[in-house]
Amino acid sequence: MSGYVVVGAQWGDEGKGKVVDLLGTHVNMVVRFQGGNNAGHTVVVNGKKTVLHLLPSGILNHDALCVIAAGVVVNPFVLFEEIDKLEAEGSHCDNVRISDRAQLLMPYHVRLDELKEAKAGDQKIGTTKNGIGPCYADKYSRVGLRVCDLADWDVFCDKLKTVLELKNEEITKIYGGEPFDYDTMVSDFKKIRERMLPMICDAVDIVNKALDENQIVLFEGAQANMLDINYGTYPYVTSSSPTAAGVCEGAAVSPKKLGRIIGVVKAYSTRVGEGPFVTEQLNATGSTLRETGAEYGATTGRPRRVGWLDLPVVKQAVRINGLTDIAITKLDVLTGFDTIPVCIGYDIDGKQQDTVPASLKQYAKAKPIYKEFKGWKQDITKCTKFSDLPQEAQDYVKFIEEYTGTEICLVSVNPEREGNCILHPLI
Ligand code: GDP
Ligand code: IMO
Ligand code: MG
Repeated sequence: MSGYVVVGAQWGDEGKGKVVDLLGTHVNMVVRFQGGNNAGHTVVVNGKKTVLHLLPSGILNHDALCVIAAGVVVNPFVLFEEIDKLEAEGSHCDNVRISDRAQLLMPYHVRLDELKEAKAGDQKIGTTKNGIGPCYADKYSRVGLRVCDLADWDVFCDKLKTVLELKNEEITKIYGGEPFDYDTMVSDFKKIRERMLPMICDAVDIVNKALDENQIVLFEGAQANMLDINYGTYPYVTSSSPTAAGVCEGAAVSPKKLGRIIGVVKAYSTRVGEGPFVTEQLNATGSTLRETGAEYGATTGRPRRVGWLDLPVVKQAVRINGLTDIAITKLDVLTGFDTIPVCIGYDIDGKQQDTVPASLKQYAKAKPIYKEFKGWKQDITKCTKFSDLPQEAQDYVKFIEEYTGTEICLVSVNPEREGNCILHPLI
């Protein structure tokens, strides 16, 4: 089986971009299968940092074909901005393909996201305001525009006319916002169409052909299991399935074709936006973690909420995704603490459990049950072998392996592509 999956095992921003870029140097194809430009995936190569939102993180490996599959919501303006920026920096993006079945994320989706969040006040979700929820809502309401609609210009214009009337009504009458002008939007999309047509492909065909030919295909998840529409802390979630199952749906791939499923786990926890966070540290420890880990959103620049590692959350990711391997990132950020607590269960109304409750009211009552680990003081950012790490750091990693019953494949100790201790090679 030549399908590899990389997914986030917490609340996003675990370092998926780094892991995909690292593996990307060995693969034939990298496929984004869900989400949109709510993602911010950071790749650092030879000191140069690149943040990717819609383009797969394999883009810096010019040999791999980069595919944006049907499950993704594509804001074409953001896509071309990202491509232009990369090309201005010397990369080439002629290896990008976009599924004809992907949904177009339209300007009215972005406006509706902003208006809905503003109207919700303190009930807001804390979205990235990039239109993700409204676009997926239209997809499932069957009024979305798809990439293939661009190929038939009359169809596109007709569909846009009908849907824009509805959206303008919603924007103005419910939210008191500014409507969009149809003619301006048509002329903007005419330019988009010309640029996008050569990139449009039948992704069902090219991805499955590659797998059938035993090419190595890497599926890159955005967000993470705790933001999953079904299994995350609903409604404080995103609007797609960032899981291995999401690959099957979003990239039209049979589960039979998926081999390794790699979960990326940050050595502590972060979350952006609202919603429960049992191990959150709203104190000096939290500030230290945030500053040492540079925990500011790659997409919105918001300070990330920070806390200790929550293993029931990771265990949920192991189950939902069927993780075969775990990649630990940012272990270096824990250097210097005397003790490092790890949450191994929850106390909810005096009852202990190690599963995540569906009810947010219940989850809000959860008190973390911590196991404390001895910290280390040595700089670990230059370690390249697991045995180079201080014994305390090794113990910390080994406990994660033991608790989750899942092999650790690598431990990342700095943001660079090569900044890892590889425990076993993945490809
Ligand atoms: P993603 O959304 O899962 O791809 O993760 P982000 O890119 O949003 O956030 C991860 C951040 O951590 C980025 O700034 C990375 O450059 C950085 N990072 C990744 N691995 C390491 C590591 O091992 N150590 C440190 N200090 N930073 C890392
Ligand atoms: P990557 O791929 C962290 C969060 C938002 C908000 C919730 C819903 O970089 O890990 P949305 O805009 O999707 O409707 O927002 O999900 N969120 C992320 N948090 N990393 C991400 O992506 C995220 N994408 C969305 O902050 O809480
Ligand atoms: Mg991110």
